[in-house]
Amino acid sequence: MTSELDDEVRKSRMPARLDFWQSATGLLLALFMWTHLMLVSSILISKDAMLFVTRMMEGSTNPSEEAGYPIIVSILAVIVLIIFVVHAGLAMRKLPANWKQWRTMRSHVKMMKHGDTTQWWIQAITGFIMFFLGSAHIIIMATNADKIGPHQSADRFVSMGLWPLYFILLFAVELHGAIGMYRLIVKWGWFDGKDPVANRKRMKKLKMAISVFFLVLGLLSFAAYMRIGLQNKADGTVGIPYGGESGH
Ligand code: HEM
Repeated sequence: MTSELDDEVRKSRMPARLDFWQSATGLLLALFMWTHLMLVSSILISKDAMLFVTRMMEGSTNPSEEAGYPIIVSILAVIVLIIFVVHAGLAMRKLPANWKQWRTMRSHVKMMKHGDTTQWWIQAITGFIMFFLGSAHIIIMATNADKIGPHQSADRFVSMGLWPLYFILLFAVELHGAIGMYRLIVKWGWFDGKDPVANRKRMKKLKMAISVFFLVLGLLSFAAYMRIGLQNKADGTVGIPYGGESGH
C-alpha cells in the first residue's frame, strides 16, 4: 500500500523534475552559445586573434606560438551534443502529440494573438531547425577539431559550402536563446522584485537587445569568414592552414 502511494508521489513529481532539467540544460546551452559566438567573433579583431583563441581552446600552453590538443575541443563538442540532445528530448514532450492537437493549438494562437504563445511557436520551430543543423555542425566540429582556424574555418563557409547552414543556424540560435532565457526568468520568477509586471517588460526589452547584439555580432563574423573564404578560393589556397602573421 505504502509503496503504491510512494509510486504515485514519485510519478507526480516527475513532470516538475523534467521541467527543472529542461530549464537547467537550456540555461547551460544559452551560456555556451553566447560564449561560443564571442570566441568565433575573434575573427573581427584579426586572423591572429582567432588563431590565438583556437589554440587557447585546445589547451595550448603558449597559444601565440604552439598548437594545442584538438582532442579537448572534440571532447567538449561531445559533451555539448549530449546536453543538446537531452534538452531537445525534454522539450519534445511539450509538442502537440498529433495533428488534431496541433490544429487546436494553432487556432488558439491565432485567436489569442498572445505574445508569449506566439513565442512558444517560434521556440518550437527554431528548436526543430537547430536540432538537425546544430547536431550536424557539432559532429563536424568534433570530427574536424584539428581543422579549426582563421583559414580552415573560412574554407568551411565558402569552399565546403556550409554558409547556408551557418546563416540559418545563426538566426535560429539567437532567437531561440534569447526567448528561452526570457521564459526561464519569467517562469522561475528571477529578478521579479516588487513589481513582476514591470520586470516582465524590462526583460522583454533586454531579450530584444541581446538578440540584436548577438545577431549583429554573428552577421559581422559571418561576413568576415566569407570574405576570407572567397579570398582563399581566388588565391587557390583552400585547405591550407593560416600560418600566423609571417605565414600564409
Ligand atoms: C563544442 C561545440 C561547438 C564547437 C567546437 C563549435 C565551433 C565553431 C567554429 C570553430 C565555428 C567557425 C566556423 C567553422 O570553423 O566551421 C562555428 C560557427 C558557428 N557555430 Fe559553432 N561550435 C559548437 C557548437 C555550436 C552549437 C551547439 C551551435 C548552435 C546550435 C553552433 C552555432 C554556430 C553558428 C551559428 C556559427 C556561425 C557563426 C557566424 O556566422 O557568425 N555551434 N562554431
